[in-house]
Amino acid sequence: MKQKTFYLTTPIYYPSDRLHIGHSYTTVAADAMCRFKRLTGYDVFFLTGTDEHGQKIERKAKEHGKTPQEYVDGVVAGIKDLWKLMNISYDDFIRTTEPRHVSSVQKIFKKLYELGDIYKSEYEGWYCTPCETFWLERQLHDGCCPDCGRPAERVKEEGYFFRLGKYQDKLIEYIEAHPQFIQPASRKNEMLSNFLIPGLDDLCVSRTSFTWGIPVSFDQKHVIYVWIDALSNYITALGYLSDDESRFKKFWPADVHLVGKEIVRFHTIIWPIMLMALGLPLPKQIFGHGWLVLEGGKMSKSKGNVIDPVLLVERYGVDAIRYFLLREVPFGADGVFSNEALLARINTDLANDLGNLLSRTTAMIEKYFSGKVPAPGKEEENDRSYLEFCSTLPDTVEKHMDELHFSDALAHIWQFIGLCNKYIDHNAPWVLAKDEASKPRLGTVLYNLAESLRHIAVCLTPFIPAAAEKIFAQIGVKAPGLKTWESIRSFGGLKEGGTVAKGEAIFPRIDIAKEIESLETLQKGAGANPANT
Ligand code: MSP
Repeated sequence: MKQKTFYLTTPIYYPSDRLHIGHSYTTVAADAMCRFKRLTGYDVFFLTGTDEHGQKIERKAKEHGKTPQEYVDGVVAGIKDLWKLMNISYDDFIRTTEPRHVSSVQKIFKKLYELGDIYKSEYEGWYCTPCETFWLERQLHDGCCPDCGRPAERVKEEGYFFRLGKYQDKLIEYIEAHPQFIQPASRKNEMLSNFLIPGLDDLCVSRTSFTWGIPVSFDQKHVIYVWIDALSNYITALGYLSDDESRFKKFWPADVHLVGKEIVRFHTIIWPIMLMALGLPLPKQIFGHGWLVLEGGKMSKSKGNVIDPVLLVERYGVDAIRYFLLREVPFGADGVFSNEALLARINTDLANDLGNLLSRTTAMIEKYFSGKVPAPGKEEENDRSYLEFCSTLPDTVEKHMDELHFSDALAHIWQFIGLCNKYIDHNAPWVLAKDEASKPRLGTVLYNLAESLRHIAVCLTPFIPAAAEKIFAQIGVKAPGLKTWESIRSFGGLKEGGTVAKGEAIFPRIDIAKEIESLETLQKGAGANPANT
């Protein structure tokens, strides 16, 4: 049987000296989803990259006294390092300055021109350079960009135009007929009522007042509008219009474009219309997630209120940060980042609930069974509801993940962790250990706990992969067959006699009051070092 494919993309990031925790949020979510799909048997293609052209980058490079190419080359390496630190398992990283992308974008533009959907005219209007967005006079708020609030610039130049208006009705029809296309549903309503139903103007898709972009192949004084260039990455990375289109044939249409809410508009209007004009199928879903905000608003360099993911990862480990990002905020909604909330999650969920379950179970197997997995005996009445809950893990986690409800998936796993801890308290292994006649029951209880930890570790692999490996190591699971999704569809995979070894605490407890103080001092120091956007 042909293996099912899954193609997921993150936005491609503006190259900047420092990405903040908000950027890591999109990528960590994308990574968890892709790891989950690999675990459940899909052939996955996970794409990320950098969006390197445009007036904003050209100006930034100048501020740094560099050419745009020198500037982007310098910062892209840092972005790749951050993804390595965050344990991001992307399959391809596309840079829009790469020849493979440049040549495909030129072909896409030419094709749209030859089809008559792009025509030459003159643009006169407003432009927000930080957002790389054209605005109509009536859309501005007191002369400022309605998205970022910064002053828009007056632009008058020759430009090529893309016939968005021609496809407006077709797109509305498509969106109405495919409720899964824009998610969450609130974003769909916003796109329809704010942009599509009022009507689309044709879009200016080339610029002549600066040069840092992909030249129009048949009219070199124009560079292609950076959003046309950037959105195309989702197909140029697959080899569209190149000599080898095999990846494109295999993976297009994408299953999910994961994007932050402020760029849903580009992905649900310009992008689908480009694809319709090119005669290509549309992605199955565009998911617009919310922002990670600080009390006082969205993180941004201009406000100087950014949280550095590197500092947090160095202090608490990558899995604690991944867990927090995925657990704290229902995906889709905005969520507030605070040091207090992060540290509380680390102590309560990771150190106490999960960490204690592992350390108690392994310590007792060491103490009562010399570190060997005991043989399970007969199931007792009080084991039943606990084992039944365990059997709900694969389907329930999968259901939540298919809707990108990371937090619900984790909440379900934690409900089981809670039950396991109760199971220990209820069965009191230390009491059973006092009586030789209870030894078989003691073996059953500890076997059930170790096997439950195996199920938990499999479920946690996509979210906190390094910690899941540590759990496997402590309960003696080496065989790849015991780490698969299929293997947790039944209870009892763990072999009796396997070696259990209590290790270091997987998530050390933190003295919150002390830590908050040190963290705030460190973050104040880091605040002077500006991050992105
Ligand atoms: N280059 C464009 C995307 C082009 S895709 C064809 C861009 N880049 S970005 O670097 O500004 O943002 C990348 C992603 O990070 C976006 O999805 C954005 O929403 C996300 N985030 C940036 N700050 C964020 C938060 N504070 N919280 C959550 N996500 C945030 O946009």
